[in-house]
Amino acid sequence: MAYNLLKGKKGIIFGALDEKSIAWRTALRCHEEGAQLVLTNAPVALRMGEINKLAEAVNAPVIGADVTNMDDLKNLFEGAMKHFGGKIDFVLHSVGMSLNVRKNKPYTEIDYGFNQKTLDISAMSLHRVLRTAWDLDAISDWGSVVALTYIAAQRVFPDYNEMADAKALLEGVARNFGYHYGVKKKVRINTISQSPTQTTAGSGVKGFDGFISYAEKMSPLGNASADQCADYCVTLFSDLTKMVTMQNLFHDGGFSFTGVTQAVIDQMGK
Ligand code: NAI
Repeated sequence: MAYNLLKGKKGIIFGALDEKSIAWRTALRCHEEGAQLVLTNAPVALRMGEINKLAEAVNAPVIGADVTNMDDLKNLFEGAMKHFGGKIDFVLHSVGMSLNVRKNKPYTEIDYGFNQKTLDISAMSLHRVLRTAWDLDAISDWGSVVALTYIAAQRVFPDYNEMADAKALLEGVARNFGYHYGVKKKVRINTISQSPTQTTAGSGVKGFDGFISYAEKMSPLGNASADQCADYCVTLFSDLTKMVTMQNLFHDGGFSFTGVTQAVIDQMGK
């Protein structure tokens, strides 16, 4: 059901790779709620061509940008402002990639060159995006920026590897830039800590299927889906959450505050 929550708002969505992507689901929901969109992804992801289907469905242009490249980001924000004929009201940062996970390097044996790239793509890219918007004064007063994170930033999930550190850094950037952008322009910045979700990035984690079913059993409401995450993003982009900023918001069916569930106890007793 649509509520027109984003009527008249303009947003940039990073990270729609295929129809499973959280960014893809969010773009569809934002469109349903009346937003105008610009889509972006890394040039290598655009070559897959999938994003064109989404672009057609939500009537949005696609502007390629590698999140580690400041020239690309400037070109993206300038292009988006030109397209909209004004400033941007919301941004979804739905970007993550671990080179050490890709190369099967365990946490205790990571390659530091890969690690730097991982942190740049998955965490400092939020700083780069915000800095670009800040320099261009591209986000409207009371605008909203959301980035996606995972609870491995607070608790150990061994196979999440270096992405755990990347998420901790990402959440730090949201909090710290959130202070400065709040004071300057009332722009709010939050992270959503999402349940494990069956996507390309998610499936990169070793033993992901076991991971998902464990989280499902450990969450009183079960795992939150990508579509439900999209709903939550819509509320954060809307005017109904204007005073929420610098927060890490758990969207995980209660997983984060559950010690154990009966379902897990029963499983252990078998
Ligand atoms: P996905 O694989 O569909 O999305 C990741 C996106 O990052 C892709 O579109 C990819 O092209 C983009 N990307 C990678 N390197 C880039 C670069 N250099 N420049 C620009 N874009 C780049 O997977 P998903 O799951 O939708 O991931 C979105 C976000 O959600 C990520 O931050 C992920 O860590 C986070 N998240 C995912 C969970 C899951 O279980 N799937 C759980 C909690 C958070």
